[in-house]
Amino acid sequence: MTTDAEGRIPRTFLQGMPVEDYPDLPPEALRGRVLRITEVGEEVLHRPCRDVETFGAPELVALVDDMFATMTVAEGVGLAANQVGVDLRLFVYDLTDDDGDRHVGHVANPVLEIGPVDDTEELDEGCLSVPGPARELFRPVRAAVTGVDVHGRPVRVEGEGYLARALQHEVGHLDGLLYLDLLSKRARKAVLAEMSEARRGVLDRRRELALALGKEPALYPPAS
Ligand code: NI
Repeated sequence: MTTDAEGRIPRTFLQGMPVEDYPDLPPEALRGRVLRITEVGEEVLHRPCRDVETFGAPELVALVDDMFATMTVAEGVGLAANQVGVDLRLFVYDLTDDDGDRHVGHVANPVLEIGPVDDTEELDEGCLSVPGPARELFRPVRAAVTGVDVHGRPVRVEGEGYLARALQHEVGHLDGLLYLDLLSKRARKAVLAEMSEARRGVLDRRRELALALGKEPALYPPAS
């Protein structure tokens, strides 16, 4: 166990609960297949997802594994099911918060609560479905998500700063919203132009990382 700059031992939270440790490469990612990440403009990203209604099914457990593998090779910190083309209210996450603590897990049927709406901060935000660019965006500093896991067991994740932002971003996906929808029309246009420049390089890197993990890379069309 190593300490951070302030001499504090970073903690790990799995499904919102403190755990001793969790592998850098989560077992879900080891088991999962790499799927293609859907991109801005694809219909499944722009409408609300359906609630998960059947829990414990092997297909649902495998979907979480695949989402972890897909997020890992894309170097993401969160991924929603409609980002792999499945319109279910489900997301996965694996990130380090502002205190250096790691949060990892998945949430089905998340209900988002945001903290005081007058307590906001502006931070850079990007999205795996908009490969390349990032933009500064105001969001409430505090947020919590309540939902269930793939077996229907309750889960609650709450936090502030980067973690709160990720929770808001992922639930936004499940509501059919991208962070782009929170930008001005002009900023959105600039982001899309940047994306078309950067996209190929980002997708090539996902392919390399998939191969490095011994996984079949996802196939992406030449242009979105
Ligand atoms: Ni996103």
